[in-house]
Amino acid sequence: MDKLSLVREFWDETPCDGQPTYALRSQLRYHKEPWLLPLLDRIAAEYPSVLEVGCGQGTDGVTLCERMRPGGRYVGVDMSEVSLAQARSAGVEIRERLQITPQFGFENAEQLSFPDSTFPCILSVGALHHSENTERAIKEIRRVLAPGGTAFILLYRTIAPKVFAAHVLRSAQKSLDAVLGTDRILYRALRAVRHEVGAGTAVYECFGVPILRSYTRASMCALFRDFSSLTLTAHGSGRSLARLANDPFGYLWLAEAAK
Ligand SMILES: C[S@@+](CC[C@H](N)C(=O)[O-])C[C@H]1O[C@@H](n2cnc3c(N)ncnc32)[C@H](O)[C@@H]1O
Repeated sequence: MDKLSLVREFWDETPCDGQPTYALRSQLRYHKEPWLLPLLDRIAAEYPSVLEVGCGQGTDGVTLCERMRPGGRYVGVDMSEVSLAQARSAGVEIRERLQITPQFGFENAEQLSFPDSTFPCILSVGALHHSENTERAIKEIRRVLAPGGTAFILLYRTIAPKVFAAHVLRSAQKSLDAVLGTDRILYRALRAVRHEVGAGTAVYECFGVPILRSYTRASMCALFRDFSSLTLTAHGSGRSLARLANDPFGYLWLAEAAK
């Protein structure tokens, strides 16, 4: 199986955040990551049309559609059909609260089907560091971004305790697999004992996701070098630091990149 199919298989098996309904997912997500809501509010207020790349189960997409102005457009794409089915039911679950109807569809971020310069805003939350070729996906995002538009891209930050721990645990599992001749043995053991993870799917992701890349400030600057401007901030180490513009322990970079 090629790398991208493995990535898709993982996300079909383990849709991001777990949880069967939008109500449960949004409660968990915005409790853990409260800094996401002001970002979504800002996007909803500033942009009439948004593409989200790697939308997963559509939690942020549906939340955006609650907040965007009527007449706007939101398109969420992903390559996990299981996640997309959940995203569509999230839209149905809260349809009476939505200002606009979300569109969810299958796309590979590395080969988007949209024409050049289609969207004034592109959002991607914690997705592209799992893609086979992140650089190619960022190039595609720049291609479909309208001139003067902004991409808001969240990617793992290397110098953060959570990400560092994930790399260490993944390399320990790799050594164990090499000795035992197994494939992601700890992930498979975890899946065998727990069917639903109440706190989300971070542990499954740590051991199971085929690709997990992270970035330093310098490698983020290199990744976004073709954009006309780039602002980087760090987010996500917990509620107490959520309001800081630059969270010293944040596990995600937010790249605000203008074309
Ligand atoms: C960690 S989840 C994030 C999902 C969602 N943004 C969220 O925060 O809940 C990563 C998602 O990226 C998607 N993904 C990874 N590589 C992709 C690619 N090349 N094209 C489209 N989707 C991709 C996966 O299918 C998965 O749903």
